[in-house]
Amino acid sequence: MSKKIFIFDTTLRDGEQVPGCQLNTEEKVVIARQLEALGVDIIEAGFPISSPGDFKSVEAISQAVSEPVICALTRAVEKDIEVAAQALQHARRKRIHTGIGASDYHIKYKFNSTREEILQRAEAAVRYARRFVDDVEFYAEDAGRADDEFLARMVERVIAAGATVVNIPDTTGYCLPEMYGAKIRYLMNHVSNIDKAIISCHCHNDLGMATANTIAGILNGARQVEVTINGIGERAGNTSLEEVAMILKTHKHLGFHTHIQSQKIYAVSQLVSRMMRMPVQPNKAIVGRNAFAHSSGIHQDGVLKHRENYEIIAPEDVGIPQSSIILTARSGKAALNHHLRMLGYQLSQQELQKAYAKFLVLADNKKDITQDDLREMMEGSQARTHKPTIKRLQILCGKPLHPVATVELAYNGYLYRASETGNGPVNAAYRAVDRILNKKIHLEEYLVQSITNGSYDTAQVHVRVEHKGRTYNGFGLDTDIVVASVKAYLNALHAAPVWDSLIGQVNSPNDRIPASLTEQQAIKLNHTY
Ligand code: KIV
Ligand code: ZN
Repeated sequence: MSKKIFIFDTTLRDGEQVPGCQLNTEEKVVIARQLEALGVDIIEAGFPISSPGDFKSVEAISQAVSEPVICALTRAVEKDIEVAAQALQHARRKRIHTGIGASDYHIKYKFNSTREEILQRAEAAVRYARRFVDDVEFYAEDAGRADDEFLARMVERVIAAGATVVNIPDTTGYCLPEMYGAKIRYLMNHVSNIDKAIISCHCHNDLGMATANTIAGILNGARQVEVTINGIGERAGNTSLEEVAMILKTHKHLGFHTHIQSQKIYAVSQLVSRMMRMPVQPNKAIVGRNAFAHSSGIHQDGVLKHRENYEIIAPEDVGIPQSSIILTARSGKAALNHHLRMLGYQLSQQELQKAYAKFLVLADNKKDITQDDLREMMEGSQARTHKPTIKRLQILCGKPLHPVATVELAYNGYLYRASETGNGPVNAAYRAVDRILNKKIHLEEYLVQSITNGSYDTAQVHVRVEHKGRTYNGFGLDTDIVVASVKAYLNALHAAPVWDSLIGQVNSPNDRIPASLTEQQAIKLNHTY
């Protein structure tokens, strides 16, 4: 009989540790709800002692989500465990994830300790966590480089102390699949009480082996996998959820299954990418935009003759829409409502009326409306107090002109505007934003992609900016590439500490206008500009 593999999702903890990918509590709750609908078994919601924001997020997710187990990370430290238990108090099903380094590198250079002392601390942490919850997972950090015999002693001791799950992380992504598989097998064969706990794989992708190592772990006895959406995570990332789920589904003969609703994978992947402002690489397995695109003539011909000639997974199995065109300007309100419901938006009649008005404007500018366009339309229409938004953007460019951009932004009840020149329209617009902020922002990365294809398409821009040593990511979508670029820039800068000092830093009295002015008054002011 097929064996169940538990999916432990750590997008909101290990995934969120990526610089520039930080989410606020509301965003984390939105993702947690989608993870629940996707069918994950455990959600690692955060590391409560690390910050008040993480504490609040674990608490909010515990209240918002009821089906999966909610897990909170700690070090093997009593205070961490107490705070985690407090953050988890409202969770219907809760787990504390505590642990300590297991490799000699960590024992010596991180803890300046000895193997025996580390064993005692590991055991004590599990015992202490069991005072608060029945479900305690222990992680043996850097197990990938730990001595197997010592690791087996550690696993035995923590299970005896009450650990229900033992995580064997390849923290540095060092292992090869055979090594990692052999490590799990060694533990299965040498830990006397191994049947009292579930062994979990937690692999990092530094050598591109995370998924292969995780599968090797499963084949050798592990029954839980720690994964993230899109493989997002520290450095080269973690094992990706979609890859493991689809490997087990595609290779049923291996004898394992998960509870993942695979048709929801693509939507969750897009949501996480958008919210974390982290693009999915085009050739990413399962969810990349090229994952099901056949470009060579031979392949196209082969797929048309018989899909399975070149496809091992049907795109609809992971929720990639068969046809990306879903609505046009001639579509009615009922059709719009139907597609919005499929995307998870439940609107009142009044809200639908407003959304339909926006839809008609969008459909006037764009021939075919896709799911991505609808998501952008809905996310853009949510109230964004204190979020900088573009009110007007005007560009003058083309040869032999020198590009000039005028940008007008709404922020916190005021409109700000500035004009700048640049070496291209995007550069001019970014310089105009910098002028409003009175700051020089360092643009580290700029990436533009068309979401589907053709010149009618929506442009998706991703930027990474640096300000005072911190990195911020931003996304922007629009049929106009310069507008998409400025949206991405503002999206990235929104989280940066550049807005509070804005008031008083305008270039002339006309450059800051109360947003409460009527459109007519604003236009008048614009004429004096
Ligand atoms: O990679 C790792 O070792 C971890 C642990 C904290 C579980 O993320
Ligand atoms: Zn990790």
